[in-house]
Amino acid sequence: MRRFPEGFVWGTAASAYQIEGAVRADGRGPTVWDTFSHTPGRTRNGDTGDVACDHYNRYPEDVALMQKLGVRAYRFSTGWSRIFPEGRGSANAAGLAFYDRLVDALLAAGIDPWICLHHWDMPQALEDAGGWRSRDTSYRFADYGETVMRRLGDRVRHSAPINEPNVLPWVAYDAGVHAPGAHGRDETLAAIHHINLAHGLCVQAVRSVDAAIQQGPIISLGPVHPARDDAEHERAAEWVDCLWRRVMCDPIMLGRYPELLAEELAPYVRSGDMELIGQRPDYFGMNHYNRMYAAPDPDRIFGVRDVPPPGDVPRTEMQWQIDPTAMVEQFDDLKQRYGDMPPIYITENGAAFDDRLGPDGVVNDRNRVDFFSGYVNAVLDGIERGHDVRGYFVWSLMDNFEWAEGYAKKFGIVHVDFDTLKRTPKASFHHLARIIGENGLAEYEPARKAG
Ligand code: FCB
Repeated sequence: MRRFPEGFVWGTAASAYQIEGAVRADGRGPTVWDTFSHTPGRTRNGDTGDVACDHYNRYPEDVALMQKLGVRAYRFSTGWSRIFPEGRGSANAAGLAFYDRLVDALLAAGIDPWICLHHWDMPQALEDAGGWRSRDTSYRFADYGETVMRRLGDRVRHSAPINEPNVLPWVAYDAGVHAPGAHGRDETLAAIHHINLAHGLCVQAVRSVDAAIQQGPIISLGPVHPARDDAEHERAAEWVDCLWRRVMCDPIMLGRYPELLAEELAPYVRSGDMELIGQRPDYFGMNHYNRMYAAPDPDRIFGVRDVPPPGDVPRTEMQWQIDPTAMVEQFDDLKQRYGDMPPIYITENGAAFDDRLGPDGVVNDRNRVDFFSGYVNAVLDGIERGHDVRGYFVWSLMDNFEWAEGYAKKFGIVHVDFDTLKRTPKASFHHLARIIGENGLAEYEPARKAG
């Protein structure tokens, strides 16, 4: 049996638009994802988050599930437009009251709330005023972050400004496959800097509320490799590395942009911005899904993209490679690039598989059981190699609205019937409950061999 260090934080993660539903409740304003998902052709099967898991009304049941799982932490996002329906002005009391209730329910269940202030659901009113293309949005975001933490900071001791600030420009302003579906070079560059600036301004604002609140970025990271062994693909890998990883990690950890993009970003950067962005985080949130493969693509803004793994390798329904050694490779890479890292938390890790609820009412998601065994072992490998990894959040507690993929891609350890909204824990839920209960796991042969 391999065990985790004392105090290791086990948690689950989710985000507002993916689970809450209740899009018109209590004065919530529309977001870019409401608009995008209601635009024909944007999401698979035209799925929307209108109802999603109805977590807004069913949160007590979901908190009870987390308690049963044995986690001590829950990472969720607050919906910006529940609190500022128009993105500015005075805060909506009913929106804040919802998160108040949720936080209290979590604490009563012995679960620490970890808040992420923005998980991609920008108020539509702000998008109409320019969204992340506009510098003003960064200031609106910091005001919102401060408002939330003034209200909840007496009970919420961990916060993060923006989920995956690196993925957001890539998918929403370059590839255009996420809301608002933009595709332009200037837009992407402006978004990169304004999102980074929003991070810095928000960290400063929340520190002014209470400097003891632990704040860190949440960045999606995986090693980047060329999809083929030639000069063109090597170059693509260098650019994907820059656009996906370094363009957010470098300014936060080193206070500067990577050379490849520094000149193009310079027109957006004002005096003092880089110092704000480069404030040392209290922790480093690393979402990890896969090793990435880079290839040239003339249709993309910078002429490069990530592609499915070459060859016949194990993969999830998202076509993401299953190889837990990639997580360890990424830990090593962080240490090599940035030296002395703050404590690391895996703030998301999980897999989509094509689950079926059997006639016996059981979801036997064997592949997800294997997946988690492999990756949880990789966390232990990382700790043994000297990386200060302090926690692990499963993505996700429940099947939910997987952005452009709608409800077709299931990441939950709890199955959700989207007609009845009935929740059914899968085999992976019981497996993780055992690991968490013992704070360790037996070495798991198949996944270890795959690694
Ligand atoms: C991450 C997102 C999360 C979910 C998972 C599968 O990039 O943060 O909302 O979509 O991927």
